[in-house]
Amino acid sequence: MSNPPSSSLLEELGRRLGPKGFTRDPADLAPWLKDWRKRFSGAAAAMLSPASTEEVSDIVRLCAEARVALVPQGGNTSMAGGATPDGSGDALLLSLRRMNRIRSISAESNIAVAEAGVILADLHDAAGAVGRRFPLTLGARGSATIGGLVSTNAGGTQVLRFGTMRGLVLGIEAVFADGTVFNGLAPLKKDNRGYDLRQLLVGAEGTLGIVTAASLKLVPAIGARSVAWIGLESPERALALLGLLDNAVGDAVESFELVPQSALDLVLRHVPGTRTPLADAHPWHVLVEAVAPMVAPSPEKALSRALGAALETGVIDDAVIAASEAQAEAFWRIRDSISEAEKADGPAAKHDLSVEVSVMPRFMVEAAPAVEARFPGTRVIAFGHLGDGNVHFNVRAPAGAGPEWPEGEGAAVTSFVHDLVVAAGGSISAEHGIGQMRLAELARLGDPARLAAMRAIKQALDPHGILNPGKLVPPFGPAQDRLA
Ligand code: FAD
Ligand code: MLT
Ligand code: ZN
Repeated sequence: MSNPPSSSLLEELGRRLGPKGFTRDPADLAPWLKDWRKRFSGAAAAMLSPASTEEVSDIVRLCAEARVALVPQGGNTSMAGGATPDGSGDALLLSLRRMNRIRSISAESNIAVAEAGVILADLHDAAGAVGRRFPLTLGARGSATIGGLVSTNAGGTQVLRFGTMRGLVLGIEAVFADGTVFNGLAPLKKDNRGYDLRQLLVGAEGTLGIVTAASLKLVPAIGARSVAWIGLESPERALALLGLLDNAVGDAVESFELVPQSALDLVLRHVPGTRTPLADAHPWHVLVEAVAPMVAPSPEKALSRALGAALETGVIDDAVIAASEAQAEAFWRIRDSISEAEKADGPAAKHDLSVEVSVMPRFMVEAAPAVEARFPGTRVIAFGHLGDGNVHFNVRAPAGAGPEWPEGEGAAVTSFVHDLVVAAGGSISAEHGIGQMRLAELARLGDPARLAAMRAIKQALDPHGILNPGKLVPPFGPAQDRLA
């Protein structure tokens, strides 16, 4: 259990970090005490903004001695309330945003070493400037930081070809709960010196250590890309299209995003300047991006041939290939705006589910009516990364429901949806993590061996529970055996 920070600790932290690195001003803290979806809000005694790994180490050591909780934060775009402190005001917000240097970037070795506070879009720009790219992107690229992306093992819209952050992190520098610095930045392709601490910290959501920098894999810059918007009948047909593209276009397909007409309608209603890409409405839509590196031929011909065949055989009902970069960006703007449009449209119980790819179409088509029948007035909007077996299965509240609906009646919806996905052999968190939002559900549904091992690791690496308490790792229940 952690303690509230004493005034002498706060003075000492303020002295060491200086005015740029330490604030107690409620106006400074306020924007960072609510999560992006405004579902969770908290309080903090101060916000610490260290400028170096040494300062992070200092902070953690002082807080460890005083048993004071630290909540690490990057861009605060967590979709699971992972970066929001509880309401006690006892925790300190530890912002890594000031640590935003790209320490090195090399086109020869295809490696960038970025500090935790580097914003994803800035890394994209820095890689582009040296003729490379960092092959992970998502709608929050303008705010999400490297430390947050590593700590949530983020996915995004290029997982199909490049995997999640886990596969792109080649090395990590972090500060453990006693203030010691782990320098594992060396991007060694092979290193068998015991447990893989790098991979343990990826996806740990700030509960095992503070990520201060990462060595990241770069790939050749895009030579040519071809972006298509497709209208079709069902998720089943979408999966058939993915198989067809696999054969005809191969691993040039980097993104394959499923969008129901209901999500497209939300975006057209709430996001100014968006227009529907096809003449008619279709029950389902798919956004496909195929990419070729420099010197390779554009993927457009292969994509156009494949879509022509899919039209002829009735797998799809309509398709348009972007005729310009501007049109390609317009297609992507629709996809990247779904979260924004949903937020504007009102409360929903949000789920970030994954099942085996081949199971997803049937799951979606069976689970949606089951939820709507069980909870009258609700509407399911399921969209996202079909090729990864990951969709955002969001259940919109009945008309007139208030903002508290997701925690109220919506909680029963969430349990019902999670029971369905576990029965289908899937996961209740594909890419957004557990945070605080899914803690109770992980405790309820998690495999006992997994939970016991997670608790033992947490106990070993953060024995005083000062790192991001109340996130990811469900506390021991009365009946829970202790692995340790
Ligand atoms: P924060 O929200 O600040 O923190 C996230 C978690 O990491 C918290 O638990 C925090 O305590 C911890 N943390 C942050 N920095 C550190 C650090 N340096 N050391 C240790 N712990 C740390 N996610 C996806 O996976 N795929 C998507 O497609 C996707 N799309 C999104 C679209 C929108 C519009 C939005 C708003 C979010 C989206 N997200 C998506 C969710 C979110 O962007 C990711 O989870 C992202 O990784 C969070 O990065 P962040 O810097 O904002 O982290
Ligand atoms: C997305 O894929 O758009 C994100 O994960 C955000 C969301 O689920 O709302
Ligand atoms: Zn997503």
